[in-house]
Amino acid sequence: MERRMLIAGNWKMNGLQKARKEVADLLALQGGKMPSMFDVLLCPPATLVADMVRDAGASGLAIGGQDCHHADHGAHTGDIAASMLKDAGAAYVIVGHSERRADHGESNAQVKAKAEAAIAAGLIAIVCVGETLAEREAGQAFDVVGKQVDGSLPEGADGQNCVLAYEPVWAIGTGKVATPEDIAAMHAHIRAKLEKAGGGILANARILYGGSVKPSNAEQIFALRDVDGGLIGGASLKAADFSAIIDASKSL
Ligand code: 13P
Repeated sequence: MERRMLIAGNWKMNGLQKARKEVADLLALQGGKMPSMFDVLLCPPATLVADMVRDAGASGLAIGGQDCHHADHGAHTGDIAASMLKDAGAAYVIVGHSERRADHGESNAQVKAKAEAAIAAGLIAIVCVGETLAEREAGQAFDVVGKQVDGSLPEGADGQNCVLAYEPVWAIGTGKVATPEDIAAMHAHIRAKLEKAGGGILANARILYGGSVKPSNAEQIFALRDVDGGLIGGASLKAADFSAIIDASKSL
């Protein structure tokens, strides 16, 4: 089955109301409509989700959250439920980003529970995995990422409601990109795991690469085997850069 590419932006903790201008600019740069041959997503801070859903309108630009709680509701001050993101118009939610794993000590089991909550709420879960520099230098990258995939994959996931994102921690926000060989090798490793998981129903889940993706390197990375698009941080904040990444992907 042909996998549909996903170009996803993660704004992280960036974006006030005035940043919504980037959505308007992106739509203008793309002629009011996202390309029909792949999916385009922006994940702003939770405070902007509902507004950006309205801004995106019928353009085909999807909006997502950056995290959710594993429970549907309850006494969890400051947290946000997947059903709330869905209610605000989100279509996706990122779970287990390395910054949340590091800042909030999120374990694979917690990430798995969040992804399950996302799917139960009708969202597509983007489950993030990736090794640190120390782990890569110690030759543990495949083992670490393999364990993260095994431990974080939600029950009930299939090729439609679950996306994996491989983001080597040392490549995030550093300008350092993994080599094409390293990216291809890790994506093949993840693909092999997905083919075995859940009796094969995850075989066709998309696997995104994240870590210093820019207009200048997006095409080369997205053309790699088993790379089904990207999760883009810094370069998704500016409409011109994000639009250039979308344009670079059109020839693939
Ligand atoms: P950068 O593209 O800024 O390296 O961030 C990647 C990332 O963490 C996306 O989730």
